[in-house]
Amino acid sequence: MNIETKPIRVWDLPTRIFHWSLVASFAIACVTAESEKWRDIHVVAGYMLAGLIAFRLLWGFVGGGYSRFAEFLPKPQKLVDYIKSLMNGKPQHHVGHNPAGAVAIFLLLGFGVVTAASGWATYQDMGGHFMEELHEGAANGMMAIVVVHIAGVIVSSWLHRENLVLAMVTGWKTKRS
Ligand code: HEM
Repeated sequence: MNIETKPIRVWDLPTRIFHWSLVASFAIACVTAESEKWRDIHVVAGYMLAGLIAFRLLWGFVGGGYSRFAEFLPKPQKLVDYIKSLMNGKPQHHVGHNPAGAVAIFLLLGFGVVTAASGWATYQDMGGHFMEELHEGAANGMMAIVVVHIAGVIVSSWLHRENLVLAMVTGWKTKRS
C-alpha cells in the first residue's frame, strides 16, 4: 500500500466520544433554552456540556497524539501561512486540526466554559440580569462559532477531497500530506 493512502489514526476514542457527546449536549441545550417547561433538561444538558469541556481541557494535556493542545496550538505565523495558502489556491493539508480550525476549537471551548459557568450562576440566582445576559451572549457566541466550524469542516473536506466527518466517527484518515 502506498504511504499516501496508508490509513493513519488521528482521533482517539475519548476525543470522538467527547465530540459527538458535545454535539448532542449542545443541541439539547439549544432546543430547550427558551422554555420553562424544559428547564430541567436544559440544566442537565448544561452540566453535561461543562463536564465534557472539563474532560477535553484535561485530555488536551494527557491525551493521544493529535488530540494534544501542543499539537494544534494556533501560532500566529502558522495561521497567516495557512490563510495565505488558501488565498493562493494551494491549501496546506494538515493531518490533525488545521490552524484556522484550531482557532475555532479553542474559541468553542472558551465560549463553552463561559456559557456553562454563567448558566450555572444564573440557575443559582447569582449575578442577576448581567449574568443572564452573559449566559445568552456566550451561548450566541458559541452558536456563531459552531456555524463557522461546520462550514470549515465542509469546505476543508471539499478542498482536500477527504471525509473529515467520517474521520471524526472512525478515528482514521487516509491522506497524510
Ligand atoms: C453536526 C455538526 C458537526 C460536525 C459535522 C462536526 C464535525 C467535526 C469534525 C470533522 C471535526 C474534526 C475537524 C478536523 O479534522 O480538524 C470536529 C472537531 C471539533 N468539533 Fe465539531 N462538528 C459538528 C458540531 C460541533 C459542535 C456543535 C461543537 C460544539 C458545540 C463542535 C465542537 C468541536 C470541537 C471542540 C472539535 C475539536 C475536537 C477535539 O480535538 O477534541 N462540533 N468537528
